[in-house]
Amino acid sequence: MRLRVQRFEPGRDTSPRYQVYELEDPPGQTVLGALFEVQDRQDGSIAFRYSCRGAVCGSCAMLINKVPRLACKTQVSDVMEGATSNLQTFGTIDQDVEDWDPETEILVEPLPNFPVIRDLVVDMTRFWNALEEVEPWMVPAEDPPEGLERPMEHGDVVKLERLVGCILCALCSGSCPIVHDEPDFLGPAALAKARRFYEDPRDVRRDGILEMLYTEEGFEGCDLIYNCVKVCPRNVAPGGAIRKLKKDAAKLPALERGRNGI
Ligand code: SF4
Ligand code: FES
Repeated sequence: MRLRVQRFEPGRDTSPRYQVYELEDPPGQTVLGALFEVQDRQDGSIAFRYSCRGAVCGSCAMLINKVPRLACKTQVSDVMEGATSNLQTFGTIDQDVEDWDPETEILVEPLPNFPVIRDLVVDMTRFWNALEEVEPWMVPAEDPPEGLERPMEHGDVVKLERLVGCILCALCSGSCPIVHDEPDFLGPAALAKARRFYEDPRDVRRDGILEMLYTEEGFEGCDLIYNCVKVCPRNVAPGGAIRKLKKDAAKLPALERGRNGI
């Protein structure tokens, strides 16, 4: 098995290049495992980000065979067996890589839509800033009596579970053509997070959240392409959350109907 890895260090390199590493292919190997193999035995200079190795921390998002995926959750054998992507393509995802043979090599590139710090490590500042923009915290009506918590109905908890499961890996942002084209678009994860608080019965903002994000930078900017839904490793379905925000906003008399006609 061979890994073809994009290498780039801004300030030192003028443009990205690809380096090929030959590896044994033990059963059960993940792409992250293969990168460790390279780093430990062949080339200690290769840079990538990881932490949990168990699809929990969201650190190892990268582009693997032109699909944004978690390297620790992606089996080498699955990639080699050639699962094809059904994403709407753009930017790096759409670019041919000279000499790459998809039959024999796994192509590993940095997550699209973020500036490269080095090799497979990207600068996530835009992602974190977008998250902060949606004010992802609960605004309760009033503090509960001392010593008590704010109870929720079981049904409400179940309804929120999908949205709460986001691990902030940014695969959705890396797969989104609108994030690629519109530098101010907040992106799928931040908008799904806004939906999480919109649906929380303890949060008093409700329509205030819709009003705050009824902009081209917010949910109005989304064209419902659903790449984000296809790549999300936690089944958060951010595109579905955005569709619901559009739908609820359309019911508010003070707001004009969304441009997607929902
Ligand atoms: S919505 Fe899914 S893809 Fe996006 S950051 Fe959260 S877990 Fe990752
Ligand atoms: S290393 Fe934590 S999600 Fe992959």
